[in-house]
Amino acid sequence: LPAPSAAVLALAVRVPRRFLRLPDLAAARGADPDKYRSGLGCLEMGVPAPGSDAVTLAAGAARRLLADRPEEAARVGLCVVGTESGVDRAKPVAIWVHELAGLPRACSAFDVKHACYGGTAALRMALAWVAANPDRRALVVAADIARYPIGSPGEPTQGAGAVAMLVGYDGAGEAAWTPSPVSGTCARQVGDFWQPLYLRDARVRGRVSIEGYLAALDGALADYRSRAGDEPPPDHLIVHAPFPGMARKAHRQWAAAQGIDAPAAVAADFRARVAPWLWVNERLGNAYAASVFLSLAGLAERLGPRPGGRRIAMFSYGSGSCGEYCTGRLGGGAAPVVGADLDARAAVTVGEYEALRAECLALEADGSLRDDPEPSGDGATFLGVRDDERRYRRD
Ligand code: COA
Repeated sequence: LPAPSAAVLALAVRVPRRFLRLPDLAAARGADPDKYRSGLGCLEMGVPAPGSDAVTLAAGAARRLLADRPEEAARVGLCVVGTESGVDRAKPVAIWVHELAGLPRACSAFDVKHACYGGTAALRMALAWVAANPDRRALVVAADIARYPIGSPGEPTQGAGAVAMLVGYDGAGEAAWTPSPVSGTCARQVGDFWQPLYLRDARVRGRVSIEGYLAALDGALADYRSRAGDEPPPDHLIVHAPFPGMARKAHRQWAAAQGIDAPAAVAADFRARVAPWLWVNERLGNAYAASVFLSLAGLAERLGPRPGGRRIAMFSYGSGSCGEYCTGRLGGGAAPVVGADLDARAAVTVGEYEALRAECLALEADGSLRDDPEPSGDGATFLGVRDDERRYRRD
């Protein structure tokens, strides 16, 4: 057995129950469908329901994770949410998750933010906390809704989702994901992507974000190598995928750093190391902080219940910017089912997607409280706002 270490013991996901087919969006926007399919690599995107926000997605993932694990839930002493879709400048998403998931009072709860890097930062913090509190558990949730202006270049790369992770000391060597204690990091202030407090959607300089991402990968990989020394190549490479084409660019750069340059060799390497998880991103779109962990869940599902201790390299990037590269072991812990959730979604038309988006935004105003709305499908529902206070319901 490997030495006991702080690890993700199990994880669970939530994705929106509706989706839009990208060829339909291309037709509505007068774009070439090949640009979305081959250029960006996007096939479908998740469309949040009214009553779905970062809180309901995060709480829904947490409830799914803990539903069959009451003894584990009772040991949780830290609840951290990595998100850039916060619903209040002061009140964290984590305290709603704490209530909706029924966590113990003896617990701290707060959010961590750095764009799409927030989930990874939250997990790093939880791993350190668990190492100091080996008899307790931490709940880490990465949850986000990616929303760009209608008709903007970012629109086909939208999506949403959440991943909840139970973090603890793993004595049995059966954890779902055991990241290496050593990681490489790279921080640099870049104006590539941001979400002004007075807007409800993101602003992005697409080309600048691609350059910022690749520079951060370069820096984090160099830092990792200087700390970890020579290692055999990992079985799989997971990278943050704001859209699948970005994973292709990142892999090409990573492969070059391993001495793999010939186009045929790069393509074969991509099929073996990246394709087994990229299908989630192709069908869901970007879920910001949750994306790398949805990819991890997709890889675990593709490899089956006994992935046999595969070594994974993971690169997380948050615009603004911060990148982190680490390796880790994908273990036999419960493999979450992402594909079944994606298959169960209902398709919407472009008109329905636009109406749902408008309904979501209308709920953000005071006086929007609804009496008995239909469930969001996340496992919790945002009811609206009354007296400037948000209200939620456990479904
Ligand atoms: N058929 C096939 N491919 C096509 C095409 C067509 N008809 N038209 C364009 N393409 C390709 C382009 O060559 C390009 O590929 P490349 O990057 O490999 O060169 C790709 O499709 C995108 O085309 P581009 O003209 O650059 O698209 P765009 O200006 O509309 O913007 C993004 C693309 C990715 C910049 C934009 O979608 C975006 O900003 N997305 C959000 C990114 C993000 O979230 N960043 C923050 C986190 S890292």
